Amino acid sequence: MSKFHPLSPTDAYHEATKHSWASVRRNAHGLDWSTQPSVYKNYPADLPRVSLLEADPLKRFLYRVAGITAKKSYPGVEYYLRTNPSAGALYPNEVYFQARGVEGFADGIYHLEVASSSAVLLRPIDESEGLEATLEDPRRRRGLLLFVSGIYWRSSWKYRDRAFRYVLLDAGHLLGSTEAGALLWERAYTIRYRIDRQGLNRFFGFGREEGMLSAFDMSTPEEAEVRLPEGSLEQVDPTGSFEPNERIEAVYLASGHLRGCRKEYRVPRLPLTREAWAEAILRRRSIRQFSRRSISKEEFTQIVRWAQASVPSDCDEAVELYAVVNRVEGMEPGLVKEGEYLKRGDLSGKAGYLCLEQALGSESAVTFFLVSSGENYAPLYQKAGLIGHRLYLAAEVQGIGASGIGAYYDDEVREFLGTEGKILYAFAIGR
Ligand SMILES: Cc1cc2nc3c(=O)[nH]c(=O)nc-3n(C[C@H](O)[C@H](O)[C@H](O)COP(=O)(O)O)c2cc1C
Repeated sequence: MSKFHPLSPTDAYHEATKHSWASVRRNAHGLDWSTQPSVYKNYPADLPRVSLLEADPLKRFLYRVAGITAKKSYPGVEYYLRTNPSAGALYPNEVYFQARGVEGFADGIYHLEVASSSAVLLRPIDESEGLEATLEDPRRRRGLLLFVSGIYWRSSWKYRDRAFRYVLLDAGHLLGSTEAGALLWERAYTIRYRIDRQGLNRFFGFGREEGMLSAFDMSTPEEAEVRLPEGSLEQVDPTGSFEPNERIEAVYLASGHLRGCRKEYRVPRLPLTREAWAEAILRRRSIRQFSRRSISKEEFTQIVRWAQASVPSDCDEAVELYAVVNRVEGMEPGLVKEGEYLKRGDLSGKAGYLCLEQALGSESAVTFFLVSSGENYAPLYQKAGLIGHRLYLAAEVQGIGASGIGAYYDDEVREFLGTEGKILYAFAIGR
């Protein structure tokens, strides 16, 4: 970068948390299992709970956001996997929502309790108060307003300073699972990044370990304005252990200052049948190993088309999709961007190397790299996570395996793609 353009604090964070061949070897560290943070936040047992394990459409929708869909057992450990993926299965996010005028739920503010597949009523609201007061437009809204927070220590315990990237990607995946549920339920939505984070954090009683990142709005406004409910909620420890990270707290603060946001209004339509999506949402898993069989050009095109469909939000940033085509019938191998070949030939070995030598990157049918030159770091990174989620589901719906890849040699990927943009995420699909 030229010295005449000092880096913004968020770009400086991105630069400082790049992986390189040398940094990965220099900074190798063991995990301290004695401080392993909990992946569940649980509010007190005496608060009212609504089970989401019922067939009504709203409960099914809420279950699809982050519901438990698999259990893995290893000697001495058991853990549960969810509709949403997460780097290292550390799940560094929580989901809260406000329901107003919604059947089956008293008007109020709820926490989505993943461990028990239920919604916990944290505080009832009346018609004069609500979380709308933390949106740009404080008019009362009927329907659902979901909020996604980040709890960085769950991820920085393992990934150290780079963890804020995963907190944002994983938040984006949650926005993606929410989107899939909303589309399946045929509800319009928009994602809001221009929220009063500090006001929300104060109201929810969060300590420094948790902070709001975005809202998923499925509500319609009325005339009257509301004010934030008085007081704040009881603070609940979301991790059981905590080690502060100054760099991450600084980039969280900096990432709240959004500039020059462009609105995207277009809500996309789900391709393929709704039944197939409903199944894919519950079946989705990360593939651990590919058998190196190819996919068809039609399957590839369908996946890319869905990944690149509009993402409605109040701060849209362009996220580019580069595809290293390794095994697609009817397509020459090479590096493709928007249908144009940038490089031709077998680049599978290179793609695997770039993903920190993970075989997923070389044995895939296609390895993607998501890139952005945008300035609004929190929105663009969450959008990359949401696109990752679309890649998972568009692959799954066609019986194709997929996995997010958060670890790659940043500068070498940039050089390989020939871009000055930030490398946000890698992703592999295949059989
Ligand atoms: C942001 C992100 C980064 C990931 N990075 C990797 C990776 O580098 N290598 C890998 O094998 N899996 C990676 N995964 C897959 C996770 O390990 C997986 O999502 C998690 O174990 C939960 O399993 P599930 O996706 O089957 O529910 C990543 C997932 C996400 C969401």
